[in-house]
Amino acid sequence: MFPADRPRRLRGSAAMRRLVAETSLEPRHLVLPMFVADGITEPRPISSMPGVVQHTLDSLRKAAVDAVDAGVGGLMLFGVPRPDDKDADGTLASAPEGILNRGLAALRAEVGADTVVMADTCLDEFTDHGHCGVLAADGSVDNDATLRRYVDMALAQAESGAVLLGTSGMMDGQVGVIRSALDEAGHIDTGILAYAAKYASAFYGPFREAVGSSLQGDRRTYQQDPANRREAVREVDLDLVEGADIVMVKPAMAYLDILRDVADRSTVPVAAYQISGEYSMITAAAQNGWIDRDAAVLESLLGIRRAGADIVLTYWAAEVARRLS
Ligand code: PBG
Repeated sequence: MFPADRPRRLRGSAAMRRLVAETSLEPRHLVLPMFVADGITEPRPISSMPGVVQHTLDSLRKAAVDAVDAGVGGLMLFGVPRPDDKDADGTLASAPEGILNRGLAALRAEVGADTVVMADTCLDEFTDHGHCGVLAADGSVDNDATLRRYVDMALAQAESGAVLLGTSGMMDGQVGVIRSALDEAGHIDTGILAYAAKYASAFYGPFREAVGSSLQGDRRTYQQDPANRREAVREVDLDLVEGADIVMVKPAMAYLDILRDVADRSTVPVAAYQISGEYSMITAAAQNGWIDRDAAVLESLLGIRRAGADIVLTYWAAEVARRLS
């Protein structure tokens, strides 16, 4: 006659809900992706990501201090060179005077060891064709020639002060070659945050504006097919064998099943990247008055944590960390 089981008993008050919540969100779980651009004197807004900017070296340092004060777990830096400085090999990616390496040095000088400074270890911002690697004569992305460029880039980033290298290019063998090059050069404590399962996603759209991408076409010959689940496990296993310290799934929201698979199997911490398109969709819907922004942001992050992410990269990291602390 009466329900014997009454799950609602545990939902009846805020105090009860707090007591029984299974998943938590803390500032330390959040990593803030940041952009530093060469040749600008004022921070430059990114129109498709309202609230996110390309920083000058100066505004980068200030925003980093703000984020650290808010308690974020780390900062992930992307570099935006002047368009004229791009070339086929992405030369400035591995030059100490390239904007990303200067930005990393500035970040380390500013925040030291108060948070974890991470670098995007990928060529796409620096190549004039916009691909994540160098091209073969036939125009395809040359995996093994690209690995040599990643090694140079990784060493320059380690020397500039990056503590974790975010290998986001999806070349085969990238984690292994970077790990051995770091070790040989004595950078034994520089770690690798491997973008292990990274999908060819339409949701990267706003990021392409954020970094002034030159890409024509797509990345489907190296990033994963959204149709595939098993392949992510293979990629993660390879990165673990090659020496990844942390593995990441990207994007997050459309790939929460993948995130759960990876979390169930990984022997190292698992990160997820709530990417530009996820940020922009929630922001746009909120600006239209269609959803409650603050609640939607928290729910999206909690969902990613619940699916298995220990760490979440999100453009809301500093804001949410401040709200939580
Ligand atoms: C490539 C890279 C991309 C992102 C991070 N690193 C774009 C891509 O693969 O096309 C996307 C991040 C985002 O959309 O927020 N190095």
